[in-house]
Amino acid sequence: MQLLASGGALEIKEFLTSSDEIISNRFTGRHGSGAGFLPAHPYFLLFTILISQEERTMALFEWKGEFSVSVSRFDDHHKKLINLINELHEAMLKGKQQGVIGKILNSLADYTKYHFAEEEKLMVAYKYPGLVEHRAQHEAFVEKVRDCITKYEAGKLAISLEVMNFLRDWLKGHILSTDKKYTAFFAANKVA
Ligand SMILES: [Fe+2]
Ligand SMILES: [Fe+2]
Repeated sequence: MQLLASGGALEIKEFLTSSDEIISNRFTGRHGSGAGFLPAHPYFLLFTILISQEERTMALFEWKGEFSVSVSRFDDHHKKLINLINELHEAMLKGKQQGVIGKILNSLADYTKYHFAEEEKLMVAYKYPGLVEHRAQHEAFVEKVRDCITKYEAGKLAISLEVMNFLRDWLKGHILSTDKKYTAFFAANKVA
């Protein structure tokens, strides 16, 4: 039974046979949402370690050639969005202050809106047939991010691995399955 999703994961067997050793050897401090340094029960400490390691398992989100939509400015926008998601992840891991995380979140929201507006402007200009469906996806994401920010600022949401995975997976999925659909259309219209 594996407790964590990715490579190098700590397994329940290891926990049951050597939890004392794990605690003494691996517990090095507070990361992300972990609440380290408390004189707590060993199981609590182990839980803290698991959360910390899980948060660290999200790999850096890297732009790859397969993400190219063949419109250079939109590739640049996507790279910038990926950088902002990585910046947010880094801030979460380092347990940065709410103000710092809030600022990155708002930059991500603003740049996302700017990018979506630019894509839609080009689609309108060239009468792209998939505009309505594409715009609906943009709007749903903007709404979701706005909701995240509102809850975060009200102290009702922590920037967790779950939130990070959602942002990364949504952007990746949108580029690969929705943005890529306009590649051939804009190429035929000589937009690069
Ligand atoms: Fe896009
Ligand atoms: Fe898009």
